[in-house]
Amino acid sequence: GKSKHPHEQHWHFSGPFGTFDQNALQRGYQVYETVCSNCHSLDLVAFRNLGQKGGPFHLDACPAGFPENLDCSNPNDNPVVKALADKYKYQVTDGPDDSGDMFQRNGVPSDRIPGPYANEQLARLANNNALPPDLSLITKARHGGPDYVYSLLTGYEDAPSTVEIGVGQHYNPYFHGDMAQAMKPEYMHDGHPVEGVSVPLGGVLAMAPPLADGIIEYGDGSPQTVEQYAKDVTEFLMWAAEPKMESRKALGVMSIIYLVILAGILYWSYRKIWADQH
Ligand code: HEM
Repeated sequence: GKSKHPHEQHWHFSGPFGTFDQNALQRGYQVYETVCSNCHSLDLVAFRNLGQKGGPFHLDACPAGFPENLDCSNPNDNPVVKALADKYKYQVTDGPDDSGDMFQRNGVPSDRIPGPYANEQLARLANNNALPPDLSLITKARHGGPDYVYSLLTGYEDAPSTVEIGVGQHYNPYFHGDMAQAMKPEYMHDGHPVEGVSVPLGGVLAMAPPLADGIIEYGDGSPQTVEQYAKDVTEFLMWAAEPKMESRKALGVMSIIYLVILAGILYWSYRKIWADQH
């Protein structure tokens, strides 16, 4: 089926000079932690990644009052990163093999950001048999990228009256689905909509609209709206999918500058060498 073309957002990470905004990344992590992490995992991201250069909670130096010898620019010693990891509980087995006792420990910076479910069966059980995908690469995995994720989060609508939406299902015009399947029988004939009726764009998915105005309190005065939450969490997920984007772009820009200078030198030497030849 067809889906609605995502809203094209102005992202400051777009383009050859684009960078992430650290404040937006911090707010985005807050949205992720408060809302999305209730169902989704971020398996490819370790807490310490949050404190690496370019990451949401990177520090150049320790805040006042920390011991002189501590280097908070090191993600493993970053107090914010430690505190975020510490909120999570990990079920681990003692000993060199699986026969040891199970015990619980708090997260540390080297742990990956886990989802809430112990396994796929439990995840499906909690979500109407659908599986919340890992979000580490979601901004790269879906057609439309960050524009799609933003549009999905902000684009839920009441289902058109021509379709029947099952329990625990939600209509979204941006979701890639097949709405012909959801058409009420009286509007269909031989697998096609009857005259004057069209199949709505989009699809139905098992994720209820996760965001609502005011549900997360921002500390920096940014608007507490669905749009702002969606924008921030999408930027954070974009960073999660490509934490080295900034250095990749910087290298590209330096390479272009290098090539332009090289071309200038070659042109100048050509003029010089061949100056007397005509
Ligand atoms: C699917 C993002 C919160 C449950 C998805 C998808 C994205 C996403 C991008 C994939 C859609 C696709 O396949 O194209 C987010 C974000 C959240 C969030 C950014 C926080 C702002 C939640 C919450 C729940 C949830 C709180 C559970 C209560 C699901 C489920 C699916 C899903 C079950 C699979 C839907 C299906 O395939 O039918 N989410 N999600 N999500 N999400 Fe979320």
